[in-house]
Formats: sequence, structure tokens, C-alpha cells
Amino acid sequence: MSRTILISGSSAINGKISVPGDKSISHRVAMLASVASGRSRIEGFATSADCRSTLGCLRRLGITIEEASDHLVIHGNGLGGYRIEGETVWLDSGNSGSTMRMLSGLLAAHPFRTHFDGDLSLRRRPMGRIIEPLRQMGCHIEAREGNLPPLIIRGGALDAISYSSPVASAQVKTCVLFAGLHAKGTTMFREPALSRNHTELMLAEFGARFNEREHDSGRVLAIEGGAELTPVDYRVPGDLSSASFFIAAATLIQGSSILIQDVNLNPTRSAFLDVLESLGANILREDVRSRHGEMVGNLRITSSALHSNPGGTIISGAVIANLVDELPILAVVATRVEGRVDVRDARELRIKESDRIRSVVDGIRELGGKIDEFEDGFSISGPQQLTGGRIETSGDHRIAMAFTVAGLISSGVTEISDADCVEVSFPEFYDLMSGVSTEGSIIKGSM
Ligand code: S3P
Repeated sequence: MSRTILISGSSAINGKISVPGDKSISHRVAMLASVASGRSRIEGFATSADCRSTLGCLRRLGITIEEASDHLVIHGNGLGGYRIEGETVWLDSGNSGSTMRMLSGLLAAHPFRTHFDGDLSLRRRPMGRIIEPLRQMGCHIEAREGNLPPLIIRGGALDAISYSSPVASAQVKTCVLFAGLHAKGTTMFREPALSRNHTELMLAEFGARFNEREHDSGRVLAIEGGAELTPVDYRVPGDLSSASFFIAAATLIQGSSILIQDVNLNPTRSAFLDVLESLGANILREDVRSRHGEMVGNLRITSSALHSNPGGTIISGAVIANLVDELPILAVVATRVEGRVDVRDARELRIKESDRIRSVVDGIRELGGKIDEFEDGFSISGPQQLTGGRIETSGDHRIAMAFTVAGLISSGVTEISDADCVEVSFPEFYDLMSGVSTEGSIIKGSM
């Protein structure tokens, strides 16, 4: 049975922390290492249950993975090198949409049958967005009701395609590029707005024949099929999405000061920092450097008062893809902003691990706040004092963590149901947050 956590208001957040390795980067480096020719060594691999799902699937595909306390070694079998016993392999993606959508791109090139399933939350998430391009490439792929897991994939020889994705999704982009690694010819990919570009940066690290071109019609990615990948020695930076809960807490709780070390600052992921800074947050980026093509650095955050633009701050359009996972915690921040904050064009939130627009609206109201709901977002006018209450997480890790921070800024006690769902991305979350919260502030309960 999952724990219930009780939180009371914190007087300050102070200290120096490191957050676990980036989840998006960890999935990608493990998958690419599995089809590289030889031994990759990976430090700082994410501790998340989602990334464990990826490792579990790769092992079932015949990939040898050695785990030491501070690194992983993945023995890649080369392109098309997955091996199974019998004709069908049964894979479990757990809660991880990334595992299912990205790994399907590699499975599409393998001539066996994959039965690919996940938990109840994943079974509600749309797969049509990857099914369509993979079918165009020649892969046989079926889904429940045409769109939902489980997927049945029977792969084989793939043809290169030129694909314009209707959604700005890095998972779809990665799926198509991964399939393109194996296809005959050069696969081209376009997206309506720039989603996180970890795959593009990492393909270069593995020596793929890959390039990005600017066309009149926008940015086009091109991957040449059949070129062998070279293994890597890779160090994964801390996950900015996990750090966002500490950044928010330190910004909102007076007297706070926190240093977060070695965190990913990729500009296609860091719009949350830009939005917070535009609202008046005090965020210093220190020792910023490039590692494996990714920007990494330290963040020093001290508390500050926040205010929106005159007439309100509107977060919409292309930027949404660059802070999509931070929108629940941004809603919590917005309750403390003087003025109005609107989030629009974020319909994708409705098909994440939960309907995150509903979860955010219900949660803010449950804690005594006011929020307007739209089909594609929400609007919050502040500052408001949240009072506490009981949050139903719907098993969604980012909802549990966002409302833990809401609990820290509430006047009363906040209860988080099913709190263990944070394991999906950040198993250390409660321990780390208790460690930096000033005495008498956080997390008393269990069961
Ligand atoms: C991810 C991309 C995003 C994000 C998810 C991780 C990735 O999803 O919400 O948590 O690692 O590529 P979409 O690609 O569906 O937008």
C-alpha cells in the first residue's frame, strides 16, 4: 500500500543538493547504447522507476547491462541486434510513456513480435502519434482501439520517410529518428515547434549520420539509416524537472537559499527558469558549461516576491513544449504571484500521466485556492493564501511533488495520497525535501 504524506508549512528551504540524473537523457542514452556496437559506460543514470522500465525492456531484448553503485555498463549489440527467445517478447513499460514511444522506434526494425504493455495510466495514453509514422516506414503495428496500449509490433526492414509530426513531441521525434537509424535511405522529420532536443544532441555523441537543416518551411532533421553507432562514455546531468520543485519552494518560502549542483540547463528544457525569472525570481546560473553537447551548471536560488506583467503574464505557444512537465508546479507558484498568470495552448497536459489540467484545478481548489479551467490550460490570480487539504494524486508523480510544495506554502496541513508515486521520476524526493526544510515544517505522516 502506498503511503500518505502529511505536510505543514515550512519556514525556509536551505542547503546544497544534487538531484538524480535526468530521466529524458537516461532513457535515450540507454536505448542508443543498446544499439551501438560495443560497451558504453554511463554515470549518473536516473534512479527513476521509468528508467528502470527501460533497462528491464532492454534486458528482455538480450542486452547485457551491468550495474555498479555509481555507473552502468551497457553492452550494445549493434543496429538490429536485439535477440529474443521464441517468436514473441513481452515487454512492460510500467508508467513510462517515454519507454514505450521511443523504444518502439527501435523495435520497429526487428523481425520478431513484441507485445508492449504498461500500467493503467499508460493504457490511457495515445500511441497513434507513433503508430502512424512507423506504419509509413513499413512496420506492422497494432494497438487496442487503434490508439492505446498494449501495442503489438512486428518489425522488419524499414524505408526512410519524410514526416511532419502534427504534435511538438520529443517522444514522437525520438521514435521516428530511432527507426530512421535502421531505415533504408535518409529519414526526414519536422515538428510544429521545437521540443526538447536531447535526441539530436545525443545522436551526434554516438556518431550517427545526422544533421539539422533550416528550410523555408522550418527546421528539418535528417538521419541516414544503416550507419553503425559508436559506444559512449557518458555522464548524465541532474534533472531540471526534478529540480523545479526545489526551485519553486526556495523562491516562494521567505528566507530560503538553495544551491542545486550539476543540473541540465538545455534551453529546450529550461523555459521554467525563464518564466520564473520574468516573474521576479532570483535564480543565478553558475559554472555553466557544455557536456556531451548539453548545457549543465549549478543553480543558486534565493526567495523573492513575484509579480506578473501589467495586464497579466500569458504563457502560451511554442514555449509550452519547453516547460510542459513543469506546468503543475508553475500553477502552485502562480498562487503566490501578484497579478494574473495564464497558461494556454497546453492541451497536451490532458494526456500525461493524469489529466494534469484537471489534477491541477482540483488540487488548487482543494487547498482553498481559486483557479479558472480552460480546455487548454488555466488562469490564476494572486497572491492567494492556500489553506491545506487532501490531494488525490491520481498516481501522478508530478502532481504529488507539485502539491507537496503547495503544502509547504499552505497555512494548514496538506495530505498527499498515494505519495509513493514519486518513485516514477524521483524516489529521493521526500527525503531530499525534508533534508532542506527548516525544522518543524514537513512530512510527518505515513500509511
Ligand atoms: C519527454 C517528452 C515529453 C515529456 C515527457 C518526457 C521525453 O513528452 O512530457 O515527460 O523525454 O522526450 P512529449 O514528447 O509527449 O511531449
